[in-house]
Amino acid sequence: MDVTVREAVPDDWQECGRICYEAFATLAARHGFPPDFPTVAAAAEPIRWLINHPRIYGVVAEGGGRILGSNFLDERSFISGLGPISVDPTTQDHRVGRALMAAVLARAAERRAPGVRLIQIAYHNRSLSLYAKLGFDVRGSFAAMYGKPLGITFPGYEVRVATSADEAACNALCVRVHGHDRAGEVGEAIADGKAMVVEHLGGITGYTTGITYFSHSVAETNDDLRALIGAAADFGTPGFLVPLANTELFRWCLFNDLRVFFVVNMMTTGIYQVPAGAFMPSVGY
Ligand SMILES: CC(C)(COP(=O)(O)OP(=O)(O)OC[C@H]1O[C@@H](n2cnc3c(N)ncnc32)[C@H](O)[C@@H]1OP(=O)(O)O)[C@@H](O)C(=O)NCCC(=O)NCCS
Repeated sequence: MDVTVREAVPDDWQECGRICYEAFATLAARHGFPPDFPTVAAAAEPIRWLINHPRIYGVVAEGGGRILGSNFLDERSFISGLGPISVDPTTQDHRVGRALMAAVLARAAERRAPGVRLIQIAYHNRSLSLYAKLGFDVRGSFAAMYGKPLGITFPGYEVRVATSADEAACNALCVRVHGHDRAGEVGEAIADGKAMVVEHLGGITGYTTGITYFSHSVAETNDDLRALIGAAADFGTPGFLVPLANTELFRWCLFNDLRVFFVVNMMTTGIYQVPAGAFMPSVGY
């Protein structure tokens, strides 16, 4: 079958959402895991959001007169975040995924993106192999953690909603830890009222765009991250991503009755710096 790839348009969201649900659910069931997206609607709504977002590039693969899959590139910040990529289960393993990856990587090259990153579900050997063949390096593994909100506070660590006055401090903290900011995402989360900061000894020592799978956090220390996690109202599922290399934080989450949904890997191409501080990635990176 001839496969073509084109830019996604708003009318694609329902079919792309259905395929995204089926692709992840089929794979999860095969491995005995719960689905990442519990319903078609839970997959389709994020896909609609992605397609309609002016700073997220989406592509759709077509063949035999129907949509076969989709892929996205989040271009809101300096580093681009890739995914979710999904291919109709009836067409998987026939290089449609490779074509969808090539399309967004060509876009990143055209825009001279300094780096592209993604989060890959560790139990999926096929995506791991495909990304590695395309030049992505594994940089770390993370546990998606979910459970009841902890509702705990720490003396000396004040957590509050971030405002636009905090934006510069959040971006500077991200540069200190990662070597680059995530200004596009931070600005959007602040505008949506979803970003939180933690203040300690009179300065901003951590921020989060939300303690969920779709949000990232950066902090000076694990104490700052604990304060942000302790104050979060809802983690959702699959939950927020804790670096397995950060054993102290991972164990603290476990001892606070949080559970592991699954383990994912972060893979990167282009520039990458080992983080110099505490952090938790989003599903993008
Ligand atoms: C991941 C996904 C998008 C890949 O798309 P696809 O069309 O099935 O994959 P492709 O056929 O393009 O590529 C698979 C590649 O991995 C290789 N591969 C597959 N299984 C492998 C294994 N166990 N070991 C080594 N290589 C493997 C294939 O040979 C192929 O490489 P090639 O292109 O060099 O021949 C698709 O399988 C999917 O939708 N999965 C469910 C959703 C999902 O997991 N998304 C990604 C989240 S991280």
